[in-house]
Amino acid sequence: MNIKRIGVLTSGGDAPGMNAAVRAVVRTALSCGIECIGIRRGWQGLINADFVRLDSASVGHILSRGGTILFTARSEDFMTEKGRERAVMTCKMLGLDGIVAIGGDGTFRGALELSRLGIPVVGIPATIDNDLGCSNYTIGFDSACNTAIECIDKLRDTMQSHERCSVVEVMGRNAGFLALYVGIAVGATAVLVPEHEEDFQKNVIEKIQASRLAGNTHFMIVVAEGAGSAVEIGKQIKETIGIEPRVTVLGHIQRGGSPNARDREIATRMGYYAVMAFAEGRGNTIIGTKEGDIVEIPIEEALAMKKHLQMERYKIMEAMQFGHTANRS
Ligand code: F6P
Repeated sequence: MNIKRIGVLTSGGDAPGMNAAVRAVVRTALSCGIECIGIRRGWQGLINADFVRLDSASVGHILSRGGTILFTARSEDFMTEKGRERAVMTCKMLGLDGIVAIGGDGTFRGALELSRLGIPVVGIPATIDNDLGCSNYTIGFDSACNTAIECIDKLRDTMQSHERCSVVEVMGRNAGFLALYVGIAVGATAVLVPEHEEDFQKNVIEKIQASRLAGNTHFMIVVAEGAGSAVEIGKQIKETIGIEPRVTVLGHIQRGGSPNARDREIATRMGYYAVMAFAEGRGNTIIGTKEGDIVEIPIEEALAMKKHLQMERYKIMEAMQFGHTANRS
């Protein structure tokens, strides 16, 4: 495979560090004598031939910027055969020998479909959900955790002053990694995640009561959006034990902001290795991480890999509450 020109796109929910990955793809490609075309608005942009030529200067000063300069979208058209055929036509029209696709699970499913139509694709995992089985880590997760932690630390100040209960909803429609990591880092009273069937009485009410018995006068409940609505959980707490919680939905603020050191570093490495895969004659793979090292996995295999929420972490989060009770009694 003699690669002369590649396309790069970002798709699905944006994540801090996507720009760092785009920059790394462009600069690595140029260093290998490969031209780079930016496809705007994800797979939809490939259908619509929405593109921009990228040179070294066009990715200057974006390393520290959140969001994605290439824009992103979730494309319904790309799920149709007709849409994908048009995407292939764009690749041919632009003379693209391959595409680097930066995104999550949906992005990689699109990548697999395109690869089956003869366009080589290399994927880079980027989602604040960190829910991809093929990679220990996905770009954006650490920055999103830090954003949520910063907000919750602020909430705690006012909750502590007013001796209140706070219910905070964090992102994660299908995955509780963000909620659990954040819950550990803020010392939450309870964490609710979509992966577990929650026993509300045991997982929320009894924890608040135990915390109260230990002398606490404010409580922090962290709930992943896929585990239930924070507003509803707040109402249930009021109905069950009479405490009137204040509810905060952090929402899309978690997806914004400057990527932190970890996300800039890993995005740069992943971008580099994605281009090297093409330069060395490979394709149709995902660049992931395993225990900090870069790994390259065939797309189909990568999509079949599952990542499970580590129960050990859940236990650790709970132990922090019990430890507190024991110290106080
Ligand atoms: O990027 C992943 C994610 O943030 C999920 O946690 C969340 O459920 C979803 O995207 C929200 O997507 P949208 O931006 O389309 O509302």
